[in-house]
Amino acid sequence: MFTYNEVLSLLSGADDEWLYNEANRVKEENYGKEVFLRGIIETSNYCENNCWYCGIRKNNNCKRYRLTSKEIIETAKNIKGQNIGSIVLQGGEENTKENIDILRKVIPVIKELSPETDVVLSHGILPHDVYAELKELGATRYLIKMETLQKDLYEKIRPGQKIKDRIDAIESLINIGYQVGSGFIVGMPGYNIEMFARDILRLQELGVHMFSTTPFIATPKTPWSSEVNGDCDIVCRAAAIYRILEPLVNIPATTALSVLSPVLFKKSLERGCNVVMCSFTPPEEKVSYKIYEGKGVSRDIPNIVKMKELVKKQGLFIVDNELGRSKK
Ligand code: 5AD
Ligand code: SF4
Repeated sequence: MFTYNEVLSLLSGADDEWLYNEANRVKEENYGKEVFLRGIIETSNYCENNCWYCGIRKNNNCKRYRLTSKEIIETAKNIKGQNIGSIVLQGGEENTKENIDILRKVIPVIKELSPETDVVLSHGILPHDVYAELKELGATRYLIKMETLQKDLYEKIRPGQKIKDRIDAIESLINIGYQVGSGFIVGMPGYNIEMFARDILRLQELGVHMFSTTPFIATPKTPWSSEVNGDCDIVCRAAAIYRILEPLVNIPATTALSVLSPVLFKKSLERGCNVVMCSFTPPEEKVSYKIYEGKGVSRDIPNIVKMKELVKKQGLFIVDNELGRSKK
């Protein structure tokens, strides 16, 4: 619906007032004043990858943890106690039996405890038959960020990984029948706005059901610890553009945005975003899931009580036990 030049111009801030009004209009046309709430459990911070931007990259000797299946199930019960309809199990990328066995174990238990709950996975690239198996066990959605669709940049900052494998994973997840979410990191060094505009249009072609973009946050003990943080306005514009391009997708106001700009986090809910997330990871482990600076420790990340208040104050509402699936 937008040409490349139009996306580029909107990303640059040429017409913010129109963009944000139109994004809000399209969002309300499809999702009304409702905001979908997710509860996240960060199941482990072990990771086999060494992404340049990430605080839990393999080479960092940070404190590692792995929640037991019992701890995950207890945490899922806490989430259900808050009447939240979808539970996200997120972790570092780890194609190991240990990691996958825990998912195999907890998904059916969560579904048994509460059949009316959507289980969403975010565990990166796994063998495609494992994706199918976990779907059979009850998972319905999968988050797998591209970070960038630029081949050279991707393969530089995700050492040892091929961009094709991640695109194949997205296509395979969609074919298996998952609702799939993906997106980018705005403002990474070497990732200019022209590349970003092309990536937005390319992701639309892949046909994902959710779109999520974070601002780059310079994080200690990474190769990019001294770089400049990403521009939160561009993050908001990208979400608004995607809402207009794909009216039916889910678009979260991301936690990383709330870390850099609590004000824009709130505003993004009236600029096309329709999803918020709260971490329920036990506090001791939560501080170790530090993919970026401020994650898990910032006072600005709303807890569940504050999040519900924030949504209400915006004139929006959360429906108890809503699965919050993408309408796409
Ligand atoms: N800045 C912003 N986002 C980041 N992520 C990881 N590290 C950073 C960072 N330094 C995001 C990536 C990843 C998700 C779990 O968090 O998009 O997929
Ligand atoms: Fe691992 Fe994801 Fe961090 Fe990359 S971004 S190092 S895959 S946790």
